Amino acid sequence: MMPSSLILFIPLSTILLAFVRCEDQQSQLSQSTSLLVDQLDSEKLFRTYDQLRDTVGDFDDVAVELFEHHDHDELTQLLTNYSRQYPNITHLYSIGQSIQGRELWVLIISDNPREHELGEPEFKYVGNMHGNEVVGREALIYLIDILCKNYGKNEYISRMVNETRIHIMPSMNPDGYSAAREGDKSGVKGRNNVEDVDLNRNFPARFPSHRRKSSGKTVQLETAAVMRWLQQYPFVLSANLHGGTTLVNYPYDDSPDSARRREPTPDHALFVKLAYSYARAHSRMWKPGARCLRPELNYERDPQLGIINGAEWYPVAGGMQDWNYVHTNCFEVTVEMNCVKFPFARELGFLWNEHKYSMLAYIEEVHKGVKGVIVDKETQKGIANASISVGRGAKIISSAEGGDYWRLLNPGVYQITVGHPHYESQTATVNVTKDAVVELNFALNQTTSTDSFKSEFGALIDQSTTTDASPTTASSIAVIASTLVSRLIASHV
Ligand SMILES: *[C@@H]1O[C@H](CO)[C@@H](O)[C@H](O)[C@H]1NC(C)=O
Ligand SMILES: *[C@@H]1O[C@H](CO)[C@@H](O)[C@H](O)[C@H]1NC(C)=O
Ligand SMILES: *[C@@H]1O[C@H](CO)[C@@H](O)[C@H](O)[C@H]1NC(C)=O
Ligand SMILES: *[C@@H]1O[C@H](CO)[C@@H](O)[C@H](O)[C@H]1NC(C)=O
Ligand SMILES: *[C@@H]1O[C@H](CO)[C@@H](O)[C@H](O)[C@H]1NC(C)=O
Ligand SMILES: *[C@@H]1O[C@H](CO)[C@@H](O)[C@H](O)[C@H]1NC(C)=O
Repeated sequence: MMPSSLILFIPLSTILLAFVRCEDQQSQLSQSTSLLVDQLDSEKLFRTYDQLRDTVGDFDDVAVELFEHHDHDELTQLLTNYSRQYPNITHLYSIGQSIQGRELWVLIISDNPREHELGEPEFKYVGNMHGNEVVGREALIYLIDILCKNYGKNEYISRMVNETRIHIMPSMNPDGYSAAREGDKSGVKGRNNVEDVDLNRNFPARFPSHRRKSSGKTVQLETAAVMRWLQQYPFVLSANLHGGTTLVNYPYDDSPDSARRREPTPDHALFVKLAYSYARAHSRMWKPGARCLRPELNYERDPQLGIINGAEWYPVAGGMQDWNYVHTNCFEVTVEMNCVKFPFARELGFLWNEHKYSMLAYIEEVHKGVKGVIVDKETQKGIANASISVGRGAKIISSAEGGDYWRLLNPGVYQITVGHPHYESQTATVNVTKDAVVELNFALNQTTSTDSFKSEFGALIDQSTTTDASPTTASSIAVIASTLVSRLIASHV
């Protein structure tokens, strides 16, 4: 049965790919993203700055004294202080050290910060990966401040902290930061790490031959620490905070021929929704046209919309968001926080005000879609590493250690198929709505050993027959086809 469905399948994907290529024109592509945004907007998926201000309500905001730049020692002291002052909702840890020996700090904020609670999603923000792009670094400190101070006081923030495990890494490149200088508008001093490697080009690339000199020859300590970190926690959603312009970009960052054009993932509509959720809640990131307050910092290639596919903007090989998407369960976007990379401290209060609701709204996105627990029907124990696939997208998520899983999805009706080599796969239909996550649990029967081949590939087969006519279908099918081919090859050598 397998070989025949495969034969039917590849020609179809080839035809669809050819079709996509015909349409591959800059104007149509950018138009289709804005049409998609309009459509999602008509479903009321996005909230504005004012709407979020009303939803969040009054809270104790950042004190003006905090609107300063904080060097590594001050950052260390601040994070230590928050963890001591709010021991019930924080946990400070380091994922390793930079080359010059600075800790790569992460502060968790959650009601039960030291452990993963079954079913509770893990979220992360990473700042300052380019050492001279610092608005994210400071904004993350301010976010920590308001989450801690308002827990138990503001209802919206308390609920967010209760229901989410939020990991905040203000700086992924503390060595670069120590070389960067306040007032740097668009420079590169301190951008790279001390080995002069651009950490956002240093991850294993989808297309290794596209790597450039700035990618470095070896995986740097900072990158390796992040890669290990991403395997240790079942992260669901993330943003990587950069600077140099004002927009959100999303995977893929690189295309097969390294050309500058749209390279959507099979989860394109989801990424557009995630990116625009951030941009729309910002005071001006969503506004069409030039967004820099200083006209000389506007780049011609910046998109009209305030969000853009990474490769369409400019191709990057070895970036972090693609690595997240391809190798983990985590969906990551990259936020360009501000046109000036290292603004003077007097601008930080203004910038925080522009971003604060976006940063909260984006965390909320981790609670949209489907989640549940997959257990063994007989023992009722959680099944780790089960695959969760969705009719509309080829990205296959796997369950965490306790059998819990999260699948971010835009509103719509989906078939969710769960598979595992030792269990019979199961499919269920869900209607995802815009406000709350749908809970969907599975209890799987163990297979007898002769069934195991069918079950291992069941999810992929089911998926190929249920893809719909969403804009992502062609690439979904291509990815499924190549996954099937590689899995088949792997299983026969
Ligand atoms: C941290 O707390 C200590 C003791 O309360 C205080 O002296 C210090 O100024 C605080 N540091 C920062 C950066 O807030
Ligand atoms: C931490 O939680 C304990 C037990 O719930 C409570 O007694 C204590 O007051 C809390 N401490 C802080 C600093 O909130
Ligand atoms: C957050 O959790 C605490 C402890 O379980 C509970 O007392 C509080 O009511 C919760 N707050 C909200 C807004 O859910
Ligand atoms: C999880 O499943 C995948 C595919 O079935 C397999 O390649 C991988 O080794 C498994 N991982 C673990 C930790 O069992
Ligand atoms: C899905 O739920 C929405 C909101 O409750 C409803 O309007 C829609 O008709 C449902 N779709 C299906 C196919 O059941
Ligand atoms: C699981 O196995 C039981 C008994 O062996 C059977 O009755 C049931 O239908 C099976 N469930 C599924 C979903 O296949």
